[in-house]
Amino acid sequence: MTTAVLGLQWGDEGKGKVVDLLGKDADFAVRFHGGNNAGHTVVIKDKKFFFHLIPSGVFNKKTIGVIGNGVIIDLEVLLDEINTLKSEEISLKNKLFISPRCHLILPYHKALDEAYEKMRGKEALGTTGRGIGPCFADKVSYNGIRIYELIHFDLFEEKFGFQAEIKNKILKSLDLKLINIKQELTKYKKIKDKIEPYVVDTYALLYDAHRQNKNILFEGAHGTMLDIDWSPYPYSTGSNTVTGAINTGSGLPIKSIDRIVGIVKAYTSRVGGGPLPTEIEGGLAKKIREKGHEYGTTTGRPRRVGWLDLAALKFSCQINNVTDIVLTKLDVLSGVPSVKICVGYKLGGKKIDYSACGYRELAILTPIYKTFDGWSEDITNIRNVNNLPKNCQKYIKFIESQLQVPISIVSVSPERSANIFL
Ligand code: IMP
Repeated sequence: MTTAVLGLQWGDEGKGKVVDLLGKDADFAVRFHGGNNAGHTVVIKDKKFFFHLIPSGVFNKKTIGVIGNGVIIDLEVLLDEINTLKSEEISLKNKLFISPRCHLILPYHKALDEAYEKMRGKEALGTTGRGIGPCFADKVSYNGIRIYELIHFDLFEEKFGFQAEIKNKILKSLDLKLINIKQELTKYKKIKDKIEPYVVDTYALLYDAHRQNKNILFEGAHGTMLDIDWSPYPYSTGSNTVTGAINTGSGLPIKSIDRIVGIVKAYTSRVGGGPLPTEIEGGLAKKIREKGHEYGTTTGRPRRVGWLDLAALKFSCQINNVTDIVLTKLDVLSGVPSVKICVGYKLGGKKIDYSACGYRELAILTPIYKTFDGWSEDITNIRNVNNLPKNCQKYIKFIESQLQVPISIVSVSPERSANIFL
């Protein structure tokens, strides 16, 4: 069985818990896109840890973690995560494999990410500052450096030196701190020795695993609404976040994916700039943010919140070929007197689809809402859908009927077992 878990909104849908749940029997857990701009919380021996690169699945005893070629890697962050696990007596030897095709996020990418944001001023995009955009830009302009070069260190020295010199010219023109090439090369030589044991041809590994009918779980990061092609660009992240990225970012054909699980938070959140058509302001937003702990895992920034947006979600389900939905954080809406769902958009008096909108349209259109009576009961201990308050059941049924995709699980608290199976 090959399963993909994908966020259908703007990220932070609660994918980590679902991966944990669906990954229990996985032989392989695979990251296939993005970088350390993503983040998930993992609890080890009652201690909370934040991981950004290591697939969540590796915390299961039998699961092997794979970082596929579509992921861009900040090796210092990856080593930090490996060392954190070592200090908790979790060894990743023969448990983690990294593709030599992964591009590297290098110090000048982070410097440029910050510099571009600073220059954008009031128009800043609100990136995570992790060097994501500049790294992907180097990848597609043939200026990138991969793990392949790191392993063949003479190539790394040559390419890094050349790239850092170019980037230093840009940094100098902006009065920013330059990259110390010699110092960085000494640092990366040490990193190479530590990373090399994890590097294998992950394509062959996954291809064989699939032929042997192993269970493979693809862990999506971010969300469909941040996809580089399908978001209101430039309010995007640097990678494709849709199902198609599984093929390009790991090598496994799309046809080999049996189940595509779309994760939908019962309301909307977004961190960073860009349009959010159903955004809620004021006291209610604050209440939802606090109750839902809506603060970024990577940057700690408060997330903007909004009503559930079915106009955007319909598009997400279609483009990803979602087979079933996991609805998360429904408990956060308990106590909201009336709950709205956006069922479409209007612009200039006419209906308009999500896919027809750029950032300008999304910022000025009028969402069409359906309003539901809320429910006041705490639902965190309910495990049977029939025991949910009637208004809450209506909310679930309406989403399912509009998206025309079955909801398979409803998550009602961060607790591992707090799930309602439908
Ligand atoms: P970047 O990916 O750091 O370049 O940031 C671009 C945009 O994507 C910003 O608005 C970020 O806040 C957003 N973003 C990137 N990754 C995530 C994520 O995992 N969750 C939520 N937002 C994200």
